Amino acid sequence: MTVFAASILAADFAELNDQTREAVDAGSEWIHVDVMDGHFVPNITMGPIVVRALRPLATATGAVMDVHLMIDNADAYLEDFVRAGADVVSVHVEACPHLHRTVHRIKELGAKAGVALNPATSLETLKEILPDVDMVVVMSVNPGFAGQQFIPGSIDKVRRLRRMLDAIGSRAQIEIDGGVSPANAAEIVAAGADVLVAGSAIFKGDIAANVAELRRAVAIQV
Ligand code: DX5
Ligand code: ZN
Repeated sequence: MTVFAASILAADFAELNDQTREAVDAGSEWIHVDVMDGHFVPNITMGPIVVRALRPLATATGAVMDVHLMIDNADAYLEDFVRAGADVVSVHVEACPHLHRTVHRIKELGAKAGVALNPATSLETLKEILPDVDMVVVMSVNPGFAGQQFIPGSIDKVRRLRRMLDAIGSRAQIEIDGGVSPANAAEIVAAGADVLVAGSAIFKGDIAANVAELRRAVAIQV
């Protein structure tokens, strides 16, 4: 079953709780929180305070709080994000020199551990850590902003990652993040992705209609 993760970065922050609720009620099972520090990526967004603010909504609806850290020195903030209510915490391979320690720390804190790869980062960088992770995030845009164009080569990257996970008998989920739309969603799912992050495709325009359109798109076989 394909899961949609609504990326709140594309929401109207003055209406954040209401818009997130609308996305979840319409069938987006996860809430995706993009944390950016102005160092690892060229944008500054939000911190644990936003996770905490949306946690009651997640608890009331059963939504999964999916936190994507695009920050340097993630280790210093893991506890803050888990305490604020993160269910899944993903860190970037490119930003974590001691990735094994970081992944195990996230798990010790009681959250699921994800690792994210920028578009130019090879799947080979995951080889040693793959058995330990709960999720791999394949970035299909260069992280930093919502509303960017999907990089087509990401679909083959998902396909190759699915084969790598199958080969080691891993049940880790594959999340794809960036530029997901009704036009590419079915192909992404066919390649083996489990969780589709969508920001602009959900929050620009009629939220409920947008989620319904994405859901229809992934119901179609390609
Ligand atoms: C990109 C973020 C994405 C992004 C998704 O840096 O990690 O989660 O906000 O937004 P769309 O779906 O608009 O590309
Ligand atoms: Zn993200």
